[in-house]
Amino acid sequence: MSLFSRFLTPPDPQMRDARGADALDLARIHAASFHRGWGADEFERLLADRVTLAHVLLERPAGAPVGFVLSHMVPPEGEILSIAIAPPARRKGHAGRLLLHHLGRLAALGVSVSHLEVDATNLPALALYRRLGYVEAGRRKGYYREGDQVTDALILRRYF
Ligand SMILES: CC(C)(COP(=O)(O)OP(=O)(O)OC[C@H]1O[C@@H](n2cnc3c(N)ncnc32)[C@H](O)[C@@H]1OP(=O)(O)O)[C@@H](O)C(=O)NCCC(=O)NCCS
Repeated sequence: MSLFSRFLTPPDPQMRDARGADALDLARIHAASFHRGWGADEFERLLADRVTLAHVLLERPAGAPVGFVLSHMVPPEGEILSIAIAPPARRKGHAGRLLLHHLGRLAALGVSVSHLEVDATNLPALALYRRLGYVEAGRRKGYYREGDQVTDALILRRYF
């Protein structure tokens, strides 16, 4: 790679385990992604819990996380509690990359099925999960309520 193209090509995104010090960044990404944000104290509690497996994605080696994924894990099952990418960093394949990495770590720790709940109207999330092999395992009618908006929850599952 020439010196010139090295400056033009963004570095490959990096993924690593989430740590307590990431709590504030994760709370910011969560607040920008969901109606009801989780506070930094909630992330600190989750990250300190032995049954939580969490990974973050960075666009630059020394940068702040721009995305995260968290599972509650009791092998052989893992439940994805949340996944989000900061709005400016979306549509670059980051969530797919991060979720694939996360699923690999879950599998290495003895998880053989990952499941989650997703709003049936959340098309970006559904596209992500389906592309990574999740299939519909159930539906909870009228599960999410936001003002006068009522939507179903889909339960998705992926066997390893
Ligand atoms: C869902 C979310 C994590 C996807 O992150 P992302 O980094 O933009 O996703 P990727 O770029 O890895 O794309 C993954 C797949 O989803 C599809 N996708 C992503 N955003 C999409 C959109 N707005 N509309 C349609 N498809 C979309 C992509 O096309 C891609 O599939 P493809 O490679 O076959 O084209 C992101 O939109 C987000 O943080 N949303 C808010 C939080 C949320 O809803 N989390 C899920 C809760 S269950």
